[in-house]
Amino acid sequence: MTLKLFKRARIYTPLLGSGPACGPDQAKLSVLEDGCFLVEGGRFLAVGRRDEVERRLSDRTVKEFDLGGAAVVPGFVDPHTHACFAARRESEFSMRLAGRPYLDILKAGGGILSSVRAVRSASDDDLYEFSRALLASTLSYGTTTIEVKSGYGLDTESELRMLRVIDRLGRTTPQTVVPTFMGAHAVPEEHKNDPEAYVRLLLDEMLPAVKEQGIARFCDIFCEEGVFSVAESRRILNRARELGFRLKVHADEVNDLGGAALAGEMRCVSAEHLLAASDAGIDAMAAARVTAVLLPATAYSLRKPFARARTMIEKGAPVALATDLNPGSCFCESMPFVFSLAVMGMGMTPEEALTGATLNAAWAIGLEREVGSIEPSKLADFLVLDGEGPAAFAYASGARPITSVWKEGERVA
Ligand code: NIG
Ligand code: FE
Repeated sequence: MTLKLFKRARIYTPLLGSGPACGPDQAKLSVLEDGCFLVEGGRFLAVGRRDEVERRLSDRTVKEFDLGGAAVVPGFVDPHTHACFAARRESEFSMRLAGRPYLDILKAGGGILSSVRAVRSASDDDLYEFSRALLASTLSYGTTTIEVKSGYGLDTESELRMLRVIDRLGRTTPQTVVPTFMGAHAVPEEHKNDPEAYVRLLLDEMLPAVKEQGIARFCDIFCEEGVFSVAESRRILNRARELGFRLKVHADEVNDLGGAALAGEMRCVSAEHLLAASDAGIDAMAAARVTAVLLPATAYSLRKPFARARTMIEKGAPVALATDLNPGSCFCESMPFVFSLAVMGMGMTPEEALTGATLNAAWAIGLEREVGSIEPSKLADFLVLDGEGPAAFAYASGARPITSVWKEGERVA
């Protein structure tokens, strides 16, 4: 197997610890001037100073890449997307710009339910092709690992079909794809007069069928006023846990319902959004080390105040960053944009944001041993930057300060 030697790199990376980085640790990066790394079989074999790494070479044939002193960071890990859908919702965006609230559109049968109609009537290939193009775009913005949720099927067969398409995306595109089951994304039209019947369907039929299918590792739920209550969310998450899923919650996105506290109580892996999360909710998350997956591009797109990242970091909740890429609340494919909003809008430092967009994001999807940092044995996923360091993502407003994107040691963008 050929070895690849990348030399003259300024390497910025968080380092794997015993849990997601929180508090002051979120800002701790390893910075290696004139760093070097060796890649073999798609993984980092050695990372360090040039002399240390070159010692590992002995007389093996090596292909060399001179990075000329450029800054290098881990490939972005996007731990929260709904990037499997069949149509955009631009007309709804115009309605929102004219003042119509996001949840109102859903209540009137649009929003998520409009995406459900589009997914149900699309062929598998159309759904795959539409989503593949979205994923290709995210890759060009530096996302080398991406989580994708189901949740636009909302009946057993359509949810299983979405998960099959998400699985196919993972097998046929360069990115590592993590599928999440989100049958509890909304109550579908056919059950709108009897939401309890849909909860029962989730508990008794959908969750066991998704388990049997074996594709999704996580179960997520939209805990929100008019969608799923805290009590319903608790029942669904309990059942999912019983079946062996790891748990996530869309919590306190629009209203403070107590979703963050529920995530703490249930020791979910992550709680996401949190625009309206209370201090008590954040305390519960910090105590249970639940990762706060923050989606500042959604706040931007909904014209809402950002989540309180500083409070979360000060209280000791680990923070991760994600796009939330979806056709409704946030049509954003760009982790650099999210990074810049995290720094300029939420007051995170570039170091905290880098950890949030890489290693803490990897923890949020259970891939902390595979991706999210530049360390031996991990997948060789990295970005060569056009800029002095990670702050370039905030400095270069609206741009993509990335010269090249590498996945498992191959240049992919
Ligand atoms: O994370 N909040 C619920 N789900 C998505 C939006 C989905 C949609 O509007 O299609 C979100 O914002
Ligand atoms: Fe979401």
